[in-house]
Amino acid sequence: MTTWPTGVRGLAWGADYNPEQWPEDVWAEDVELMRRAGVNLVSVGIFSWALLEVEDGRYEFGRLDRVLDLLHDGGIRVDLATPTAALPPWLTAAHPEVLPETVDGIRLSPGSRQSYCPSSPVYRAKAVALVRALAERYRDHPALAAWHVHNEYGCHVQRCYCDRSAVAFRDWLKVRHGTLDVLNEAWATTFWSQRYTSWEQVLPPRMSPSQVNPGLELDFDRFSSDALLELFKAERDVLREVTPGVPVTTNFMATSGFQALDYWKWAAEVDFVSNDHYTHGEDPERHVGLAFSADLVRGLAGGRPWLLMEHSTSAVAWQHRNIAKLPGELRRNSYAHVAHGADGTLFFQWRQSRAGAERYHSAMVPHAGPDTKVYREVEQVGAEYQRIAELVGSTVRASVAIVHDWQSVWAVSQPSHPTKDFDHPRHVLAHYRALWRAGVTVDFVPPGADLSGYRLVVLPALYLVDDASPYERYVEAGGRLLVTFLSGISDSRGHVHLGGYPGAFRDLLGVRTEEFHPLREAEQVSLDDGSTAAVWTEHLHATTAQVLASYVDGPLPGVPAVTRNDGGTGVAWYVACGLTGDGLDRLTATVLADAGVTGTGSATVEVVRRRGEVAGSAASWLVAINHGESDAELPAVGVELLSGERVAGRLVVPPGHVVVVREEP
Ligand code: GLA
Repeated sequence: MTTWPTGVRGLAWGADYNPEQWPEDVWAEDVELMRRAGVNLVSVGIFSWALLEVEDGRYEFGRLDRVLDLLHDGGIRVDLATPTAALPPWLTAAHPEVLPETVDGIRLSPGSRQSYCPSSPVYRAKAVALVRALAERYRDHPALAAWHVHNEYGCHVQRCYCDRSAVAFRDWLKVRHGTLDVLNEAWATTFWSQRYTSWEQVLPPRMSPSQVNPGLELDFDRFSSDALLELFKAERDVLREVTPGVPVTTNFMATSGFQALDYWKWAAEVDFVSNDHYTHGEDPERHVGLAFSADLVRGLAGGRPWLLMEHSTSAVAWQHRNIAKLPGELRRNSYAHVAHGADGTLFFQWRQSRAGAERYHSAMVPHAGPDTKVYREVEQVGAEYQRIAELVGSTVRASVAIVHDWQSVWAVSQPSHPTKDFDHPRHVLAHYRALWRAGVTVDFVPPGADLSGYRLVVLPALYLVDDASPYERYVEAGGRLLVTFLSGISDSRGHVHLGGYPGAFRDLLGVRTEEFHPLREAEQVSLDDGSTAAVWTEHLHATTAQVLASYVDGPLPGVPAVTRNDGGTGVAWYVACGLTGDGLDRLTATVLADAGVTGTGSATVEVVRRRGEVAGSAASWLVAINHGESDAELPAVGVELLSGERVAGRLVVPPGHVVVVREEP
């Protein structure tokens, strides 16, 4: 199986290219500017359904033929999109039933994009027919390097509640549960008189007078992720049949901010993983969110090469305030993805649109043209990427892992929990940030992954746990495990483990909690080690664990808040409260020291090592990015590839700068 766009030399570098928005005489200049900027891969045709299929079954490929020929003549490879994420008006007008319905029964209108019901047979049939026509048309086109299926599944519509979705949901439930009795048990339908006596009674979790059954909600989340995945697979299977050697991807949104899809399942279905990531201009630590996303994507890729399919050269068009990037920022952002393992970085988009909803979104070629900060920086990075082409194929190894489980995120984010202040993505990011500040590289792994290679494993609110024994074995064998509150509370149906929280992990952690004590809005409690906590506390008893810190005030003075339990040759820590800022950094430092992990970077300088081969021999590279405001010294011996200079022990990295050192042993 081909696992990378074919014919791309070195790191992939380019953008979404939407030439259909421009008169044809602009295209030649596009290719000329792409060549100047070192572009070698563009995603073409993502939103061009209405132009490619002008009416039902009538395809017009002439424009796309000319675009692909031009790109090929310019030496630029094409990641050809299936344009199924934005439906043409002829389709929605003729078949309004393809449109999705919201939780409160409103049918969404066309007029933007992604207005489709994932379970609509009409939508699926039309999409698959178009994909087949496209694949047959371009199967032998020499520019074709990869398929870009659809665009950001679930970006705008994650769940559809229409009658057709209800039918598909029931089919999905029959496969999952087999019988209604099992479903009734799983959803605890004895509560509030919800017992079902026929499948037809089961509906999506539509707007209802009060809290909806949590089992129904959780299964609908699972179904909704799977329904979109089925759509992807339907398109992919056609592409694999017609163009077997051409790799297929779809651009994920594996970021802290998007949690609607179970990407562990999705990652298994693509030939290579690609991802979109956008920073939030108002977040002073936006580079940490970027690193989080890149590490998560590397985990999804599972050792295979991966591509950053989209980020922005400067401002986006969908935040409250669309802040322009500072000089050097697009460069740092690009290198950060590469540092964390990407074999290429592309932007949305090539040329900034004159019109349309995203006309103020930045691009590689801005409205002001190539004589701009943005295009010059684009040219600079494009040229530099050619100097670091040897990084392609190298990988990143980490000694710390975070277990991430989208299904736990869905379950713990339901409204019927002890507090609405708990924000799972923010919680995971807080723990990730503490590790990032300690300069440590982190892997993300799914529940059930082999943990034996890690010195430290973090379980941040791993809520759904049927069986804790893999974690018990890990600690028994010497592993260090850090578990946070709201872990191990329920089985995979969402039923609470009895006998005291955190049920599945009670023995491993040597604790027993009798009651949760979420805090009031803005309330902070103090711990006797100088830390503070917000959002969450619990009435915890240490059974075999050693108490590391207890509350000095708040609802539970004297009660343990942070514990450590030795088991076998390993250690299991429990953080039973929402530790904030310094306290979390200090605890993280303690745990890392105990696990024998030292960081490669610092709180301001991001340093990641990639390992691979050069000319058949083992090689390694340090990619360092100085996010701070003063010079940083990097211990290194080797060659700094961007400048070509030798490094004999120490290298100064000025603020805002990036270096890539090929290390010498
Ligand atoms: C997403 C989409 C693109 C574009 C960008 C804007 O990533 O895939 O089509 O809308 O956002 O940031």
